[in-house]
Amino acid sequence: MSEQKNLINAAGPEPPRHIAIIMDGNGRWATRRGLPRTVGHKVGAETLRRIQAYCHKIGVRSLTVYAFSTENWKRSKDEVNFIMGLFRTYLLEAIESLERDHVRLRFFGDMSAVSPELQSLAHQTDEISERLPEDYFHANVCLNYGGRDEIIRAARRFASDCAAGKRRPDELDENLFANLLDTAGLPDPDILIRPGGELRLSNFLIWQCAYTEFYFTDTLWPDFTESEIDRAIAAYQKRERRFGGVNNK
Ligand code: IPE
Ligand code: IPE
Ligand code: MG
Repeated sequence: MSEQKNLINAAGPEPPRHIAIIMDGNGRWATRRGLPRTVGHKVGAETLRRIQAYCHKIGVRSLTVYAFSTENWKRSKDEVNFIMGLFRTYLLEAIESLERDHVRLRFFGDMSAVSPELQSLAHQTDEISERLPEDYFHANVCLNYGGRDEIIRAARRFASDCAAGKRRPDELDENLFANLLDTAGLPDPDILIRPGGELRLSNFLIWQCAYTEFYFTDTLWPDFTESEIDRAIAAYQKRERRFGGVNNK
């Protein structure tokens, strides 16, 4: 990180350390051009590469993207298979590039439902990432992720620890619970960006976004640019984060 140029205005209000993005609008982007929805996903995957590199370059510490939800299996088999193919390409590239690019990659979500090949590739990127320095850029991809599912999985883990006598119910507090979530060890997102025009969370990071600042834009994800990130950060830096307190300035 030390050699990265920090382009975020260090003199201004605190820049976001952790950005979360709901990568939405791929299907509409393609349909408007008379193209199959899959083309939108392919272009959207390119947007992710660009935006991930840009966030890293400007000194953001962590980027968490919503790539496939627990509800997205409702889509056609062809569309789902195509998206899984894009994950495969992304993972193969990551295996080659994480170390070189100083990126640690993690997957959030229930990976047990994805193909054995994707699980094995994700296992390889986990192994690479775990031995890379903690201060490298954190790229987190949510695959078969749902906020409610994540909370249920964490609750089950805690309940089974209690049943095994390793934990007591009265030990549970917000910190302990947060450490049972997929995002364990990661600060909550400072800003959540949703392109694509929808004004909802769609089951994304529902625990972690308790005090996150929201930024919505009509731009469809395949059209999303580095300038949009700059605009979102500028908007974020004008917000007053009170966390339930009062501004004493
Ligand atoms: C987001 O784009 C990608 C996934 C949900 C996998 P969409 O495919 O939801 O695009 P729209 O919302 O239909 O335009
Ligand atoms: C949210 O987008 C999920 C991802 C971007 C991966 P959706 O397109 O699935 O959300 P809804 O259906 O509009 O709420
Ligand atoms: Mg959508």
